[in-house]
Amino acid sequence: MVKRVSLESFLRSRGFAVALAVTCTSLFSVGPIYFYPHLRIGPPQPIPFSHRLHVGVKEIDCHFCHYSVERSP
Ligand code: HEC
Repeated sequence: MVKRVSLESFLRSRGFAVALAVTCTSLFSVGPIYFYPHLRIGPPQPIPFSHRLHVGVKEIDCHFCHYSVERSP
């Protein structure tokens, strides 16, 4: 049985307010990094990355980072 909720009561609900706050905070904090890459707001690229450390020392499986490792070149 699906409980019907009116649009007005949904928009006034606490859950909607929290979802809206989280969405807006995310968009305004992290969003510019993705939407305006030419501004170079994020960390300097390329980020130094070592497979020797992650796969060798930490023994993290390839699948953890590369979901398509068995299908893709
Ligand atoms: C902890 C996450 C992580 C794990 C585990 C990992 N990789 Fe990577 N891999 C990366 C990242 C991040 C890059 C991009 C690095 C870069 O561009 O400098 C990358 C890049 C690569 C590349 C492209 C290299 C290039 O020069 O373009 C290959 C091939 C690769 N990984 C294979 C593997 C294989 C095979 C394994 C398992 C033995 C593995 N990776 C495990 C994160 C991971």
